[in-house]
Amino acid sequence: MSSTHLTRTIITTGDGSKTIHIPDWNENYHSSHGAVQEAKHVFLKHGLEQKRDQEHIRILEIGFGTGLNAILTLEAGLNFSSKISYDGIEAFPISMEEMKALAYDEFLATNELKAYYQQIHATSWEEAHEITPQFTLSKIQQEIQKLAFAPNTYEIIYFDAFGPRVQEDMWTQEIFQKLYDALVPGGIFVTYCAKGQVKRDLKAVGFLVEALPGPPGKREMTRGRKDE
Ligand SMILES: C[S@@+](CC[C@H](N)C(=O)[O-])C[C@H]1O[C@@H](n2cnc3c(N)ncnc32)[C@H](O)[C@@H]1O
Repeated sequence: MSSTHLTRTIITTGDGSKTIHIPDWNENYHSSHGAVQEAKHVFLKHGLEQKRDQEHIRILEIGFGTGLNAILTLEAGLNFSSKISYDGIEAFPISMEEMKALAYDEFLATNELKAYYQQIHATSWEEAHEITPQFTLSKIQQEIQKLAFAPNTYEIIYFDAFGPRVQEDMWTQEIFQKLYDALVPGGIFVTYCAKGQVKRDLKAVGFLVEALPGPPGKREMTRGRKDE
């Protein structure tokens, strides 16, 4: 199913942070138990934190959406000595109005971070922008199915597509193989999804798959590692 032309509304999740809801699919951009909480648990704790000793951390996000994972990664990275390059793939970008209505700046501690979040949205697509001396962002407006990645390019992949219940075509072995190849040896793929078929498909393309405890309200999440 394609998510073009779907109505999007804004709802409040369990931790007080907002997310986008798609009524036609009864699907949210983040967990209804807490958007910020989920992002920090799945993508920062079990993704970014695992690579904090690297000089340069290259991250690919599938489903850039609201930019929440990007700003939280920029914020967390301020405590690292690493440089972060962040490539966000998004087929259907949100509008500035939606960005304002989400009010994620309420969850950002400093005016500097709030300004970085604005910049993350305001910068043009298809080119690299240095948001801070440490954090460079490239937003790419394209469907993942149509993209090719250079092999051995990323330390981490944040896989934040809509769930397989509503967008099965994002969770295929073909896409997982493309992402596996894009990772460096020892690179990791993290997703909030814990579906058995997804874990089997990740294994089938070569990932070493781990089931990890999920964020509050979700029993499990999944991490795949490319062999060293
Ligand atoms: C679960 S939401 C992403 C949430 C996002 N990471 C955030 O923090 O807001 C899934 C995203 O995937 C995007 N998407 C849908 N189909 C896509 C495709 N074929 N290729 C790339 N992105 C797609 C949607 O527009 C949506 O923004």
